[in-house]
Amino acid sequence: MPALAQSDAVQDRAVALVAKMTTAEKLALVHGYFPPLAKPVPPIAMTPSAGHIPGIPRLGIPTLRESDASLGVANQIEQRKGDVATALPAGLATAASFDPDLAYAGGAMIGAEARAKTFNVLLAGGVNLTRDPWNGRNFEYLGEDPLLAGTMAGEAIRGVQSNHIVSTIKHYVLNSQETGRTVLDARIDPAALKESDLLAFQLAIERGHPGSVMCAYNRINGDYACENAALLTGVLKNNWGYRGWVMSDWGAVHSTDKAALAGLDQESGQELDKAVYFGTALRDAIAAGRVPATRLDDMVTRILHGVIATGLLDHPAPASPQPIDYAAHAAVAQRAAEEGAVLLKNNGDLLPLARTTRRIVLIGGHADVGVLSGGGSSQVRSVGGAPVEIPLKSGAAASFARVTWHASSPLLALRAALPGATITYVDGNDPAAAAAAARDADLAIVFATQWQTEAVDAKTLALPDKQDALIDAVAAANRRTLVVLETGGPVLMPWLDRVPAVLEAWYPGQRGGEAIARLILGDVNPAGRLPISFPARAEDAPRPVALGLGALSAAGEKGDLASFPVDYVEGADVGYRWYQRQKLRPAFPFGYGLSYTQFRYTGLKVDPKSSTISFDVTNTGKRSGSDVAQVYVAATSSAGVRTDRLAGWSRFTLAPGQTRRATVKIEPRTLARFDPAGPGWAMDGGPRRVAVGHFAGDASLVTEADFPAVQSSR
Ligand code: BGC
Repeated sequence: MPALAQSDAVQDRAVALVAKMTTAEKLALVHGYFPPLAKPVPPIAMTPSAGHIPGIPRLGIPTLRESDASLGVANQIEQRKGDVATALPAGLATAASFDPDLAYAGGAMIGAEARAKTFNVLLAGGVNLTRDPWNGRNFEYLGEDPLLAGTMAGEAIRGVQSNHIVSTIKHYVLNSQETGRTVLDARIDPAALKESDLLAFQLAIERGHPGSVMCAYNRINGDYACENAALLTGVLKNNWGYRGWVMSDWGAVHSTDKAALAGLDQESGQELDKAVYFGTALRDAIAAGRVPATRLDDMVTRILHGVIATGLLDHPAPASPQPIDYAAHAAVAQRAAEEGAVLLKNNGDLLPLARTTRRIVLIGGHADVGVLSGGGSSQVRSVGGAPVEIPLKSGAAASFARVTWHASSPLLALRAALPGATITYVDGNDPAAAAAAARDADLAIVFATQWQTEAVDAKTLALPDKQDALIDAVAAANRRTLVVLETGGPVLMPWLDRVPAVLEAWYPGQRGGEAIARLILGDVNPAGRLPISFPARAEDAPRPVALGLGALSAAGEKGDLASFPVDYVEGADVGYRWYQRQKLRPAFPFGYGLSYTQFRYTGLKVDPKSSTISFDVTNTGKRSGSDVAQVYVAATSSAGVRTDRLAGWSRFTLAPGQTRRATVKIEPRTLARFDPAGPGWAMDGGPRRVAVGHFAGDASLVTEADFPAVQSSR
């Protein structure tokens, strides 16, 4: 059945169900509990997760049981003691794979666990573009490019929903920094927003068909995201024809009439708002004629559209927890960690490590017991437990307040792989002791960590806790030093010239230790490519530090501070496009990543009529490996700035000497400008530079092609 006819049939079913509902039943569906704080009278049984909306048994409408999120089924409050779930690596790792199948597999795995744990709405699909290298939630997202992020988010959502449960896409939109996120006003030219963050959402929605869209905390150009008529009704519902429902972020609702009229369909976690805006207040607004009764019908129809379209209505989630194949799911997590790690430097072929290596010293990062994870609502209590937990405040229950390691020890993984070698660990607290331990080793590996969390941005891009000095001391003692980074995003590497090899492992998830060992030993050939630029200096980024840092970073969470503007001066030129426009060289560009083999591109052909670009990729090295060949095409934005844009990529695995022809079909909107005065998207005709390269700014193959003019309203 074609998508629209299918959606029409879903719509008809939703409308028919709504016609059978009383006003009280309708109202009960448009606001939800935050179970850890909820005290309904009379009490109802709720899993202490993010959200709970009682169903309507007489009509077969299921109770909505909501859980976070993109990196695994979260259990942030931990009232279900001992409950664990499979933890994927950071979203940035998944994005670094440039592998849509991997994004789907991760989503399908998490969706299966969510369902087996009785959840039927997963608060996944984080696709905010990573505009700032220091953003506390970068690790949850999918990088700085709308095509990459939109594609990967769409696939992850499709994977989640393949389990007949709902996935959200979030946070709509421009929740680009955490500092003051509940009060700040994100300011951007509306056309530039269409060409960047909104394009990521649009592509992901078209690909993944999420049942729900979560509106963000912040304001955009004046109005709060959850009461922003231009974005909720204008863009999402009218222009894109989105038929699912808009749920708020937790504590992101500020009004009844304005929010309802702007297009918000459901108030989430009502205990976190100042009042329950969509309960009796909405009933009264309808009775007084301030909000039409048809709007309530529309809200409920949209909720049911999501519930029906995903198959949830016809395939209800189980009422009690079901067994989970954790071993199979761990393999998904390990594959993601292996595909997503990015080899940034490998001078003198330090890696892969010879199996004859005798003495290895691991230093720091708790690499004896595990790998770091990011904090906040996405935090997963992983299978195997948390070997290290550092409370930020004593007695705090939420994962927000703890730095947590997954039990996946690089030390044990390396020892298992190299039984004949002597492999030791020092904690790195004393640089002199670490240097002494490293001095006579065949390889020293420093595990450098940067903890990032929701609600807080990094104050600087420097590694914390004097780790730069530690790396310098170790590298001075032993030039065979590898730095493994476990960071939430880009960091500065002042020691880069003195260290021959660097592997960015991100937060590598609950099989990160095993993945790192296999990458170091060459059992896996690194193929990750940076989904986010690493600036050479903090001041090269559009905003060197988060606006409002200081007083606001703590108090902004409470939402009772005055709003302040954040001007997104880069507009649509996020990430690599910003650095190109400013003529700045990043330390490591978007798309960059090394392999233990090499790839050559030849035979470029462009067929502008069919928007197809083809070329040969040859593995010219001695090992088999996967390559991500990237196509960049020049385009001018609505702001009149011409930059190269990622127009597509091709990823495949090649044996030594093997050649395959890559065919990349261009998504025209990635090359268009948004013209609010015209029909919408306009791709100008005329000559454009086309480059095939290993990263943004690389031009292994270059040509010019005449593309036809294309216009489209959506
Ligand atoms: C986060 C969302 C999350 C929600 C529910 C909010 O603080 O911004 O991403 O889904 O909490 O836990």
